[in-house]
Amino acid sequence: MKVLVPTDGSDRSMKAVEMAVKMAEKESAEVTLLSIAHYATGDFEALPADLQIRFELAAKSVLEKAKALFDQKQLKVETRLEYGIIPGNNILKLAEEGGFDQIIIGSTGVTGLTRLIMGSTALKVAQHAPCTVTIVR
Ligand SMILES: Nc1ncnc2c1ncn2[C@@H]1O[C@H](COP(=O)(O)OP(=O)(O)OP(=O)(O)O)[C@@H](O)[C@H]1O
Ligand SMILES: [Mg+2]
Repeated sequence: MKVLVPTDGSDRSMKAVEMAVKMAEKESAEVTLLSIAHYATGDFEALPADLQIRFELAAKSVLEKAKALFDQKQLKVETRLEYGIIPGNNILKLAEEGGFDQIIIGSTGVTGLTRLIMGSTALKVAQHAPCTVTIVR
Protein backbone atom coordinates (compact mmCIF):
# COMPACT_ATOMS: atom_id res chain seq x y z
CA MET A 1 0.00 0.00 0.00
CA LYS A 2 1.60 3.27 -1.18
CA VAL A 3 0.27 6.37 0.53
CA LEU A 4 0.87 9.97 -0.50
CA VAL A 5 0.44 12.69 2.11
CA PRO A 6 0.67 16.25 0.82
CA THR A 7 1.26 18.68 3.65
CA ASP A 8 1.44 22.46 3.94
CA GLY A 9 1.99 22.35 7.69
CA SER A 10 -1.64 23.22 8.50
CA ASP A 11 -3.43 21.51 11.40
CA ARG A 12 -5.64 19.49 9.08
CA SER A 13 -2.71 18.30 7.03
CA MET A 14 -0.89 17.29 10.22
CA LYS A 15 -3.92 15.19 11.12
CA ALA A 16 -3.51 13.54 7.73
CA VAL A 17 0.13 12.87 8.60
CA GLU A 18 -0.92 11.30 11.92
CA MET A 19 -3.32 9.02 10.09
CA ALA A 20 -0.50 7.93 7.80
CA VAL A 21 1.76 7.25 10.81
CA LYS A 22 -0.86 4.79 12.07
CA MET A 23 -1.08 3.14 8.67
CA ALA A 24 2.70 2.77 8.52
CA GLU A 25 2.66 1.30 12.02
CA LYS A 26 -0.25 -1.08 11.65
CA GLU A 27 -0.34 -1.94 7.95
CA SER A 28 3.28 -1.31 6.95
CA ALA A 29 2.08 1.32 4.49
CA GLU A 30 4.83 2.97 2.46
CA VAL A 31 4.34 6.67 3.09
CA THR A 32 5.61 9.61 1.05
CA LEU A 33 5.28 13.11 2.47
CA LEU A 34 5.04 15.82 -0.15
CA SER A 35 5.36 19.57 0.24
CA ILE A 36 5.06 22.00 -2.65
CA ALA A 37 7.01 25.23 -2.30
CA HIS A 38 5.32 28.13 -4.02
CA TYR A 39 7.14 28.98 -7.20
CA ALA A 40 7.60 32.74 -7.38
CA THR A 41 7.10 33.88 -10.94
CA GLY A 42 6.24 37.22 -12.46
CA ASP A 43 7.93 40.54 -11.90
CA PHE A 44 11.15 39.43 -10.28
CA GLU A 45 12.48 42.98 -10.01
CA ALA A 46 9.69 43.78 -7.60
CA LEU A 47 10.12 40.68 -5.42
CA PRO A 48 12.60 40.36 -2.56
CA ALA A 49 15.63 38.49 -3.84
CA ASP A 50 15.35 35.73 -1.25
CA LEU A 51 11.62 35.09 -1.67
CA GLN A 52 12.08 31.79 -3.53
CA ILE A 53 14.55 30.62 -0.89
CA ARG A 54 12.06 31.52 1.84
CA PHE A 55 9.30 29.51 0.15
CA GLU A 56 11.69 26.59 -0.17
CA LEU A 57 12.79 26.78 3.47
CA ALA A 58 9.17 26.91 4.62
CA ALA A 59 8.31 23.77 2.63
CA LYS A 60 11.42 22.00 3.93
CA SER A 61 10.56 22.79 7.53
CA VAL A 62 7.02 21.49 6.99
CA LEU A 63 8.51 18.22 5.72
CA GLU A 64 10.84 18.03 8.74
CA LYS A 65 7.95 18.60 11.14
CA ALA A 66 5.91 15.83 9.49
CA LYS A 67 8.85 13.44 9.19
CA ALA A 68 9.59 13.84 12.91
CA LEU A 69 6.33 12.00 13.72
CA PHE A 70 7.63 8.96 11.82
CA ASP A 71 11.18 9.26 13.20
CA GLN A 72 9.84 9.25 16.77
CA LYS A 73 8.48 5.77 16.15
CA GLN A 74 11.38 4.64 13.99
CA LEU A 75 9.11 4.27 11.00
CA LYS A 76 10.44 4.60 7.49
CA VAL A 77 9.12 7.52 5.44
CA GLU A 78 10.01 9.26 2.19
CA THR A 79 9.95 13.02 1.81
CA ARG A 80 9.62 14.96 -1.38
CA LEU A 81 9.93 18.66 -2.09
CA GLU A 82 8.44 20.12 -5.25
CA TYR A 83 7.87 23.56 -6.71
CA GLY A 84 4.67 24.82 -8.24
CA ILE A 85 1.98 27.46 -8.42
CA ILE A 86 -1.01 25.14 -8.11
CA PRO A 87 -0.10 22.44 -5.55
CA GLY A 88 -3.00 20.23 -6.69
CA ASN A 89 -1.28 19.77 -10.04
CA ASN A 90 1.93 18.52 -8.40
CA ILE A 91 -0.05 16.16 -6.16
CA LEU A 92 -2.04 14.66 -9.05
CA LYS A 93 1.05 14.22 -11.22
CA LEU A 94 3.01 12.45 -8.48
CA ALA A 95 0.03 10.27 -7.53
CA GLU A 96 -0.13 9.08 -11.11
CA GLU A 97 3.59 8.67 -11.79
CA GLY A 98 4.37 7.15 -8.41
CA GLY A 99 1.58 4.58 -8.59
CA PHE A 100 0.08 5.55 -5.24
CA ASP A 101 -2.92 3.64 -3.87
CA GLN A 102 -4.17 6.38 -1.63
CA ILE A 103 -3.83 10.11 -0.98
CA ILE A 104 -4.52 11.47 2.50
CA ILE A 105 -5.08 15.21 2.49
CA GLY A 106 -6.47 17.91 4.78
CA SER A 107 -9.84 19.45 3.89
CA THR A 108 -8.36 22.92 4.32
CA GLY A 109 -4.86 24.31 4.54
CA VAL A 110 -2.90 27.41 5.41
CA THR A 111 -3.82 29.70 2.55
CA GLY A 112 -7.61 29.58 2.57
CA LEU A 113 -10.39 31.16 4.54
CA THR A 114 -11.48 29.00 7.46
CA ARG A 115 -15.14 29.33 6.53
CA LEU A 116 -14.55 27.27 3.42
CA ILE A 117 -15.71 23.67 3.55
CA MET A 118 -12.87 22.58 1.36
CA GLY A 119 -9.85 24.32 -0.08
CA SER A 120 -9.02 24.35 -3.77
CA THR A 121 -6.18 21.84 -3.42
CA ALA A 122 -8.31 19.27 -1.59
CA LEU A 123 -11.16 19.80 -4.05
CA LYS A 124 -8.96 19.40 -7.09
CA VAL A 125 -7.34 16.24 -5.74
CA ALA A 126 -10.69 14.72 -4.74
CA GLN A 127 -12.05 15.40 -8.22
CA HIS A 128 -9.16 14.18 -10.34
CA ALA A 129 -7.03 11.70 -8.37
CA PRO A 130 -6.32 8.34 -10.01
CA CYS A 131 -6.66 6.60 -6.63
CA THR A 132 -8.58 6.62 -3.35
CA VAL A 133 -8.62 9.98 -1.55
CA THR A 134 -9.11 10.41 2.19
CA ILE A 135 -9.97 13.95 3.25
CA VAL A 136 -9.20 14.74 6.86
CA ARG A 137 -10.98 17.39 8.90
N1 LIG B 1 1.71 23.61 -0.91
C1 LIG B 1 1.21 22.45 -0.50
N2 LIG B 1 2.03 21.37 -0.40
C2 LIG B 1 1.53 20.20 0.02
N3 LIG B 1 0.25 20.00 0.37
C3 LIG B 1 -0.60 21.02 0.29
C4 LIG B 1 -0.18 22.30 -0.15
N4 LIG B 1 -1.25 23.13 -0.10
C5 LIG B 1 -2.28 22.39 0.34
N5 LIG B 1 -1.91 21.11 0.59
C6 LIG B 1 -2.76 20.02 1.10
O1 LIG B 1 -4.09 20.29 0.77
C7 LIG B 1 -4.89 20.39 1.96
C8 LIG B 1 -5.99 21.38 1.73
O2 LIG B 1 -5.45 22.67 1.50
P1 LIG B 1 -6.08 23.67 0.45
O3 LIG B 1 -4.95 24.40 -0.19
O4 LIG B 1 -7.05 22.95 -0.40
O5 LIG B 1 -6.93 24.63 1.40
P2 LIG B 1 -6.69 26.15 1.81
O6 LIG B 1 -5.22 26.45 1.83
O7 LIG B 1 -7.46 26.35 3.07
O8 LIG B 1 -7.43 26.97 0.64
P3 LIG B 1 -6.88 27.53 -0.77
O9 LIG B 1 -5.47 27.11 -0.95
O10 LIG B 1 -7.82 26.97 -1.79
O11 LIG B 1 -7.01 29.01 -0.65
C9 LIG B 1 -3.90 20.73 3.06
O12 LIG B 1 -4.37 20.36 4.35
C10 LIG B 1 -2.70 19.89 2.63
O13 LIG B 1 -2.93 18.53 2.97
MG1 LIG C 1 -3.94 26.18 0.15
